[in-house]
Amino acid sequence: MAGLTIKNVKKIYDNQVLAVAEFSIDIADKEFIVLVGPSGCGKSTALRMIAGLEEITDGELYIDGQYMNDVEPKDRDISMVFQNYALFPHMTVYDNIAFGLKRRKVPKNEIDEKVREVAEILQISELLQRKPKALSGGQRQRVAIGRAIVRNPKVYLMDEPLSNLDAKLRNQMRAELKKLHKRMNTTFIYVTHDQTEAMTLGDRIVVMKKGYIQQIGTPHEVFDHPRNLFVASFIGTPQMNFIDVTLELVNGTPQAKVMGAEIPLEMSMDIGLMQGEQRKAVLGIRPEYVEPGTMDGITVKIIMQELMGSTVQMHLVLGDTEIIAVVPVSDAEALPAAGELKVSLPADRIQLFDPDSKLNYEIIYGEKEDPLAHLQMPQEADEA
Ligand SMILES: Nc1ncnc2c1ncn2[C@@H]1O[C@H](COP(=O)(O)OP(=O)(O)OP(=O)(O)O)[C@@H](O)[C@H]1O
Ligand SMILES: [Mg+2]
Repeated sequence: MAGLTIKNVKKIYDNQVLAVAEFSIDIADKEFIVLVGPSGCGKSTALRMIAGLEEITDGELYIDGQYMNDVEPKDRDISMVFQNYALFPHMTVYDNIAFGLKRRKVPKNEIDEKVREVAEILQISELLQRKPKALSGGQRQRVAIGRAIVRNPKVYLMDEPLSNLDAKLRNQMRAELKKLHKRMNTTFIYVTHDQTEAMTLGDRIVVMKKGYIQQIGTPHEVFDHPRNLFVASFIGTPQMNFIDVTLELVNGTPQAKVMGAEIPLEMSMDIGLMQGEQRKAVLGIRPEYVEPGTMDGITVKIIMQELMGSTVQMHLVLGDTEIIAVVPVSDAEALPAAGELKVSLPADRIQLFDPDSKLNYEIIYGEKEDPLAHLQMPQEADEA
């Protein structure tokens, strides 16, 4: 078990690609941290620098308070699972899991105890004598995880370990990983491009884009208080609704106007305007928070309804913007299937973004200091 301190870590590959820029985070002992972002944003590079598989171009890495930049991977006391886990095909599951311990000259009876314990945790006890080719994808993945957790390292690093599995198995393994984390009581750093996986697994999530950290926060923070438009659109499915609005104060109260309709904002919200001034902004509201079928509200056109199981996605047009409302099936039954209806956008669920800087108004006008304010993100990397 160990905490990590990562300070302004940077990676520039030989081809001059800036893969990771100014990566900084303090990770607590036993925390489950998930790095998430689109393909090529630098997740694997960041993880590989922590593992020691990739040289750190600049910055500092501490594991358990010890400076690690120049320490060999094998001496960092970490364990890593990759997306393309390679099991030894000629060895049994037992020997695959035992391999690392044998190499470390751990006594035989101790190895046996460990392997059986890990097999039990991962529910592969009855598979120990089989060869990898006689296993399903999910079983092979468990063996790969077993090989990593048979040791008790300070940190587990996992790079998209579930991405080769089908959706059902992935959900199942995700739940198992979460249990595993509780049981192992060790720090996990986990990479995925799947925001659902990030939201369900992480104690905290690091959202990345083009090498730059966009936000670090709990799943709740990144969902309800996204730092910028990129995080707002990347986290959550269906995506957050974005509506171009004009802001102004009406009798001292902040309002957002769109195509003649007025959307009241929270009275206490600071939008940085004086009476009589106006400014364009992007209003964001999650589909789950849109309330269709209210008595007063904004009139919208219904395009279609999609049944998603226990919820219905209502596709609506507000002004000239298509928005989605997600409602429970039972509520949707009481709503018209075509024509028009009224929707309310609850003021306390509305997020505002500046179209130029892309930042959340909470960051620009809020009282809390932006922890990432020092990051000079180039305009090109900032484009959503
Ligand atoms: N060995 C390398 N040499 C040069 N450039 C590299 C190397 N490895 C990665 N890159 C580049 O660095 C950037 C970050 O790559 P990285 O593999 O860290 O992304 P990722 O977030 O893990 O993406 P994915 O989700 O596709 O796995 C990309 O632009 C990639 O092309
Ligand atoms: Mg990767």
